[in-house]
Amino acid sequence: MQIEFIPALSASVTGPVARIVDQDALPIDLEAALAEGARASRFSGKAGQLFEGFVVRGDAVVRVALAGAGEAQARDRMAGLEKAGAALSAKYGASGETALIIDLAGSTLSAREVAAVLLGARLRAWRYDTYRTRMPADQKSSLAVIRVAGAPEGSEAAWAVEAALADGVELTRELVTEPANVIYPESFVERVSARVKGTGLKVRVLNDTEMKALGMGALLGVAQGSIRPARLLVLEWNGGAAGERPTAFVGKGVTFDTGGISLKPPAGMEDMKWDMGGAGAVAGAMLALARRKAKANVIGICGLVENMPDGGAQRPGDVVTSMSGQTIEVINTDAEGRLVLCDAVTWTQKEYDPTAVIDLATLTGAMIISLGNEHGGLFSNDDGLAAKLLAAGDASGDKLWRFPLGPAYDKLIDSPIADMKNVGPREGGSITAAQFIQRFVDKDRPWAHLDIAGMVWASKPGQTWDKGATGYGVRVLDRFVRDNLEG
Ligand code: BES
Ligand code: MN
Ligand code: ZN
Repeated sequence: MQIEFIPALSASVTGPVARIVDQDALPIDLEAALAEGARASRFSGKAGQLFEGFVVRGDAVVRVALAGAGEAQARDRMAGLEKAGAALSAKYGASGETALIIDLAGSTLSAREVAAVLLGARLRAWRYDTYRTRMPADQKSSLAVIRVAGAPEGSEAAWAVEAALADGVELTRELVTEPANVIYPESFVERVSARVKGTGLKVRVLNDTEMKALGMGALLGVAQGSIRPARLLVLEWNGGAAGERPTAFVGKGVTFDTGGISLKPPAGMEDMKWDMGGAGAVAGAMLALARRKAKANVIGICGLVENMPDGGAQRPGDVVTSMSGQTIEVINTDAEGRLVLCDAVTWTQKEYDPTAVIDLATLTGAMIISLGNEHGGLFSNDDGLAAKLLAAGDASGDKLWRFPLGPAYDKLIDSPIADMKNVGPREGGSITAAQFIQRFVDKDRPWAHLDIAGMVWASKPGQTWDKGATGYGVRVLDRFVRDNLEG
């Protein structure tokens, strides 16, 4: 979808005309038919509310939409504006209309607020119809361009920043949506490498031979049941001061999780194509940072494996040696994400000595039981880092909720034969998973773990997404960088 800025609405621009309306503040210049129509249909301008009417203007009948942005003074003002834009996309995206005008004449929206409306519109319009070859014409997305008339000074620059973010969210959604016969470790690397070309991101790839030489026995143990070789994808963004230590984002990229020999039941197993959502979010966030030329040094690491149960697969009870030297008794081959992350985190610390490590993973089903689909789980050894991430989550809409860590949980993963086992009891399953990762985090290194199992995929449309891949994670990481690492 294209976004264009035009000076003002004129007779030559066609398409529905939208106005952004704050709650209980209908524009005073509205035609009586629209004002009365809005009143009669109880349109008050609540965030995401939409009213549509038709009025005669000169020789033409014009389709007019009023999109509610909520209260002008709302604490979550930006979210309200995004919802207004999203409501327009939801309404007109596949309506047959090819262009939409957002008329800002008389509006008091700032450049940043205009950009928020456009971000909501663009994110809500995204869909992936690549494999739908027989889609009826009247279901196809039609909206190709949004023209913004009369936007305030600085709107184009503000939009350029949010457009970079949208590029990142869309890359994540694409990676998450693709099936596992298309996106596997090698093709994940190829897809992301192609997409980041020309952005200034530096791409590094470790193959399985190199990882073996580094001693990544935990990550490779997961991969050994698949014909698809493992990869570690590294994206480096050096937009900050030269020589300044970076922040690291590490993503779980299990391109398909069958459970391995601890095989999952068939119902819903297809969902496990999105078990690479953490890695997808890291790749998308790195693209966003590069596209908007973020003034920060950030490294994105994606641990990529496929968890399959063939004759070479690891068995329950196997003991593997991680890159850190610590040994792990693999009680359950379906608790594979932590095995991938532990080696990725160890390597990241050794290679880059980052000021903080933030990992993202669709790690546990227990997380979904705890928080449903409204918050990602946050675990951290550092209250300051945790507070920054909670704030970034709030501001960006990728909401987080903090969980505890502690020695009493940690001892639940002690093993009688190795340094630790890869699962604890059922109770507190998300916490023991986080404790497992923490055993690989250097002492005094600020670290946060985001368990995003409930957030990557949506069974129904949400605020700025259709059903399917949400792109969760990109926005909280981007916001964290903006508010804490830049300027
Ligand atoms: N990828 C899953 C977690 C998951 C489940 C994500 C459902 C999204 C939706 C993870 O690898 C897994 O299988 N975890 C197990 C851990 C258990 C064996 C300790 C789980 O949550 O059941
Ligand atoms: Mn699993
Ligand atoms: Zn998994």
